[in-house]
Amino acid sequence: MSERILVTSALPYANGPIHLGHLAGAYLPADLFVRFKRLQNKDIIHICGSDEHGVPITLAAEKRGVTPQDIVDQYHNENKQIFENVGIDFDYYGRTSSKAHYKTAQDFFLNLYDKGVFKRKEQEQLYDEEADMFLPDRYVKGTCPNCGYEEAYGDQCESCGTSLSPNELINPKSAITGNTPVTRKTEHFYLPLGDYQPELEKWLETRKNWKPNVMGQVKSWLNDGLSDRAMTRDLSWGVPVPVEGFEDKVMYVWFDAPIGYISATREWAAEQGQEDKWKEYWQNEDTELVHFIGKDNIVFHCIIFPTLLMLHGDYVMPENVPANEFLNLEGKKFSTSRGWAVWLDEFLEEFEADLLRYVLGTILPETKDADFSWKDFQGKVNSELADILGNFVHRTTSFTENYAGGTVPPLENPSEKDLEALEQIQVQKEKIAQSYDAYRLREAIAETMNLARIGNKYFTEMEPWRTRKEDMTICNNTLHVCLQLCAALSVLFDPVMPQKMEQLRKQLGINKKPAWKDVQRDMLPIGTQVDKGEILFHKIEDEIVEKQLNKLEQQSADTESADNYEPLKEEIQFGDFMKMDIRAGEIISAEEIKKADKLLKLTVNLGFETRTIVSGIAKHFKPKELAGQKVCVLANLAPKALMGVESNGMILMAEEDDGSLKFVETDSAPGSPVT
Ligand code: 2FM
Ligand code: ZN
Repeated sequence: MSERILVTSALPYANGPIHLGHLAGAYLPADLFVRFKRLQNKDIIHICGSDEHGVPITLAAEKRGVTPQDIVDQYHNENKQIFENVGIDFDYYGRTSSKAHYKTAQDFFLNLYDKGVFKRKEQEQLYDEEADMFLPDRYVKGTCPNCGYEEAYGDQCESCGTSLSPNELINPKSAITGNTPVTRKTEHFYLPLGDYQPELEKWLETRKNWKPNVMGQVKSWLNDGLSDRAMTRDLSWGVPVPVEGFEDKVMYVWFDAPIGYISATREWAAEQGQEDKWKEYWQNEDTELVHFIGKDNIVFHCIIFPTLLMLHGDYVMPENVPANEFLNLEGKKFSTSRGWAVWLDEFLEEFEADLLRYVLGTILPETKDADFSWKDFQGKVNSELADILGNFVHRTTSFTENYAGGTVPPLENPSEKDLEALEQIQVQKEKIAQSYDAYRLREAIAETMNLARIGNKYFTEMEPWRTRKEDMTICNNTLHVCLQLCAALSVLFDPVMPQKMEQLRKQLGINKKPAWKDVQRDMLPIGTQVDKGEILFHKIEDEIVEKQLNKLEQQSADTESADNYEPLKEEIQFGDFMKMDIRAGEIISAEEIKKADKLLKLTVNLGFETRTIVSGIAKHFKPKELAGQKVCVLANLAPKALMGVESNGMILMAEEDDGSLKFVETDSAPGSPVT
């Protein structure tokens, strides 16, 4: 591996909070790798940030009745903080709405445009007439032509994983109004991926160490043959296309997002007052660029972005893309919309981050999907962290305190067993490093825990509780060896549990954080003061885990039922409400309006006057049923002409699940204020 490494983690959409599934997919593996390399004193930086464009953001904003900017501001800050709380140590956490990003992305686009890379094509695209907009990507839902799943998105079917375009959906519906879209012509810039496939394949052949799950997916795309992909969209939220005549269009989010890695590195360099430092990472062939992502991002990082980088020519190409598969939760897919998730901020309110880092690290979905279950979490904390590592450290430090005067005793005439145990430090250290280097992080963690296992077994076999009475030299040797093992563990486990290992190093009297190369059999000088300190890991009781399981079930049930209701509109102030004058009323008569099959003309007694009100209830009630109906009327609504009839107010109705309407009734005398 090169001396300079640039690690990126997939930029999460700033449209919701981070859950355990996200963490296991990209951020934790990246952080483990980076922390390991930092211990090796490599020149390495870890870049990430918020992906703030694209349909996921605008849809979230529409659902909540706020602006896309409100959404990204909220989640950018929240997610940045959550990552920090869970110990993901980015060198820079940028955002794709930054000015610097716009400039980098637009320069990149223009570079390719000037080279004549893009094809300009006019095509029919789905259009929502009521919302008055084109419907790219997730703005359309419909039936997947591949598997028949009825809720497939316009860019992908989440059931079978097929990548789709909106026009391929059977029975498409607008995600905004639910209407069936029409088609309209629009012009866009396309990346003719097929033209560059041979060159891309040549480069991919040089990628020897890629994981089989990643290369497998890439090969399958290549076998199907790459086709043109639109790099621009008819939306208003995104990076504006910097080409005359296209100013009202924006870049496709998957064009600008990966360029976010470059912009964020530039911002990182600027923040340090070394404007050009980013070039050492992006424009120096000796740099190894590594993208940590989840499997749904493979095509973008292994095919589309490399093609863009290749065509641009000024940047390094990815050295590796160690993509992970998915993490499930209690046997089911994580699903934000179904409330089937463990949110990181809530998790961290109950448990320490290092426990999660360890447990998730041991089950990372590196080669196939994996599952997080609360029982398994409890099992690993109790039987591995507490019973093996914690127990080993505690036995060693408390014995040292109680029987060796609280300092590292000397090693005198060591037995073969003593030497063998000490040797394991080097043996395990090499195995662990090899695993990290090959992106086998689960294995790296398992081998690290194996060193604690070796220590624990050695301690038991040497029976220091016996030898302290019979031969203190043997007892001292045992404690010396165990303390050296603990010291080695405090560094080898540092990428996984940085906080706990700092605590352990304090107990062992290690004041300056050692480097990887310092992990030796004699890390702790004889005579070093050792303090048994606080227990490192406490066991998790059954009831704590049951509480979490119940919470998950409840959260899922609540979300499902909340989904059956219209989302609440934006908050208003009391004054807003007080502006409305609602009065009790009674319908005197009702009649149809010509050519308006949804409307009825109502004559309503409001006590102080009689009014004409036009109401959209013709599909639900017959005129002759309505005389005498008690109603509530918004009485100070400005008059409006509807199909030639002036309407003076609005009748309040409640709409039920099945679309039927009911009057909001009151028995109060007509004219009474409803407050
Ligand atoms: O899948 C996602 O969450 C995307 N926001 C990842 C983007 S990665 C990169 F290209 F920015
Ligand atoms: Zn499908």
